[in-house]
Amino acid sequence: MLTLSGVTKRYPTGDRALTDIELTLPKGQVMALIGPSGAGKSTLIRCVNRLVEPTQGSIRLEETEITRLSGNALRQARRSMGMIFQEYALVDRLTVMENVLSGRLGYVGFWRSFLRRYPQDAVTEAFRLLERVGLPHAIDKRADALSGGQRQRVGIARALLQSPKLLLVDEPTASLDPKTSRQIMRLIRELCAERGLAAIINIHDVTLAQQFADRIVGLRAGEIVFDGLPSELTSEILTTIYGEEDWDTTPEPMDDDVSDDSISHPPYAREVPGLAAGGAR
Ligand SMILES: Nc1ncnc2c1ncn2[C@@H]1O[C@H](COP(=O)(O)OP(=O)(O)O)[C@@H](O)[C@H]1O
Ligand SMILES: [Mg+2]
Repeated sequence: MLTLSGVTKRYPTGDRALTDIELTLPKGQVMALIGPSGAGKSTLIRCVNRLVEPTQGSIRLEETEITRLSGNALRQARRSMGMIFQEYALVDRLTVMENVLSGRLGYVGFWRSFLRRYPQDAVTEAFRLLERVGLPHAIDKRADALSGGQRQRVGIARALLQSPKLLLVDEPTASLDPKTSRQIMRLIRELCAERGLAAIINIHDVTLAQQFADRIVGLRAGEIVFDGLPSELTSEILTTIYGEEDWDTTPEPMDDDVSDDSISHPPYAREVPGLAAGGAR
């Protein structure tokens, strides 16, 4: 449903963030994009919704060539892509409900959204989504009164309110503790299955990527160096993606995560220092 072909991004500063990316995402597939900081993960998903302009290449979402769109057509295409961020990007002084409804801004037009008047069907759907993400009692709370995990649940509900076909998720767990991280990844995973959504999830925690994705793509210095099943990700491949030197500097695994028996680490996760604790960056 999504195809990137020959996608290259050079920033005006001269930084070459992506080089000749070839990637096809089938309908309903949850793909984790892993790689060290600076590998180009954020740039890649931002090219897909054109928050970043690719320098070269083609990006097709179903029948639409995304790179050629502008104005209304671009806004329309963006609605079919739900974005979930690391920092949640909520408006602190607005309630949970208002934050979720802001996911419909693209639909309701400027004046109605300015007056915060939303159609009844949007409000009904927002209620349903807040229940689904586990926040039925927080509807009237201000966003700044929530925990990190709750804020991310609001971010997820907001992304889903626009009924996207594709989710673009940038480091959804980077500000969360290990247990909350797994809950959030599980929720995203379940929602994709329920709604037949494809997703690209940027994540530096290899263990989480393996637990919750159908497919893993490894990015290093703007190039794809691995594309395969979670079970095919060996420690040699991890060294290719993250580089030898990184393993020496990662912290020791933390006991709190390993002792949770609801997860099973692949055997090599214990061999590579820091991996079981998500220390790979
Ligand atoms: N707005 C920008 N201007 C210039 N260079 C950028 C910008 N954003 C990212 N880069 C550079 O592009 C490369 C990839 O960055 P990014 O996509 O943020 O990687 P990741 O998300 O994997 O950490 C890095 O070298 C980074 O410094
Ligand atoms: Mg990033």
